[in-house]
Amino acid sequence: MSVVTISHLAQHVGETVTLLGWLYNKRSSGKLHFLEVRDGSGICQCVVFKGNVSPELFAQADHLQQETSLAVTGTVKEHGKIKGTFELDASGLEVIAPPSREYPISPKDHGTDFLMDHRHLWLRSRRQQAIIRVRHTIIKAVRDFFDGRDFTLVDAPIFTPNACEGTSTLFETDYHGEPAYLTQSGQLYMEAAAAAFGKAYCFGPTFRAEKSKTRRHLAEFWMVEPEVAFLDLDGDMCLAEDLLAFVVGRVLESRREELKVCERDIAFLENVKTPFPRITYADAIRILNENGHPNAKVGDDFGADEETVISSKFDRPVIVHRYPMDLKAFYFAKDKERPDLALCMDILAPEGYGEIIGGGQREDSLERLEEAITAHKLPREAFEWYLDLRRYGTFPHAGFGLGIERTVAWLCGLGHVRETIPFPRMLNRLAP
Ligand code: 4AD
Ligand code: MG
Repeated sequence: MSVVTISHLAQHVGETVTLLGWLYNKRSSGKLHFLEVRDGSGICQCVVFKGNVSPELFAQADHLQQETSLAVTGTVKEHGKIKGTFELDASGLEVIAPPSREYPISPKDHGTDFLMDHRHLWLRSRRQQAIIRVRHTIIKAVRDFFDGRDFTLVDAPIFTPNACEGTSTLFETDYHGEPAYLTQSGQLYMEAAAAAFGKAYCFGPTFRAEKSKTRRHLAEFWMVEPEVAFLDLDGDMCLAEDLLAFVVGRVLESRREELKVCERDIAFLENVKTPFPRITYADAIRILNENGHPNAKVGDDFGADEETVISSKFDRPVIVHRYPMDLKAFYFAKDKERPDLALCMDILAPEGYGEIIGGGQREDSLERLEEAITAHKLPREAFEWYLDLRRYGTFPHAGFGLGIERTVAWLCGLGHVRETIPFPRMLNRLAP
């Protein structure tokens, strides 16, 4: 028995092969059963013709239930009408295991809560597989981008004593009798890495105890965070837009089929070319004032609605830079001409997908950083190691964080981040 995967059927036309997989769907018409079999690499229609198999086998095929695991043997042929699609003319069928109960997810519509409760099974569906494959490609592209530019991968820890992104979204845990947090961001460690390696990045899970239920917040999400020595805010913006253009290009190149399954209109994605428009926070407030938010004023932070209005003015991602210091984390450098502004930038994806990148230039003065730690009421002791980076050869540097799930949501055109990660962790969901 020559076992092949569905994705490789094209290389076996005319041969007799065996597929190992699960029954995805079934139709019958008189002398024919059409078994849709999936094996993880694809879905293949296996045609069981009454005249080609024993009466027992033909009867067995009629009673197969969805998600039966099975082995189907047959001859590979190209689909009569759809070029590039391959079928199996079945000659043999072996049931490996029938389901012990009826499979709960049928082709009919189910509610989101039901599907999320069955996430471990929902992942078997065509659309969920397409999304996770796009995610895989995004992650691979991100790594290839940085590896190709001589960045060193430096893994950041998950347990940390440091609140990098403010104290309101910390997951606290007991670390051998001492309080520790699940990391909100690897940034502080990447700053140490930048001093060691020049160009470094980390990529891993990060955690935020977000108290609100939104379509873009997860409690656990994956972030890639580059940090570069002797880079300023302008250089940081260039690096970030190059990364996004690279990632989008790679997905368009290699995941067309999956984007089609997601019913993604790719016109906007094809537009993601550098340079991206750059506007200041003050410009963004003006855009809001002129577009249905007359009361928006300097000092306001942007929520999903505001980001949607701002990004709708542009045909590709837009970079918003120099927010008021008061709105931003403690570590940002100040604009020399306008010390009330942070040398920070956010990148907003088009079509209402909102902020996908946040970053900027870091404070490199020991004294000003000490002041910021005090002003933000952060425990000085926990940040002593971080202050060392300013004590021993301090240097201008910048970096950013790209949220993988929001990027997946944007590229696949999904209304909610819950489908962008295999097993989402949200305010009200820890299982499965
Ligand atoms: O803007 P944020 O909070 O920036 C940082 O954490 C910096 N320390 C990164 C750095 O400069 N190294 O988060 C960065 C990105 C956001 O733009 C968003 O894409 C994603 O992380 N993100 C989330 N994604 C899903 N769920 C959440 N709760 C998220 N919070 C942030
Ligand atoms: Mg942010």
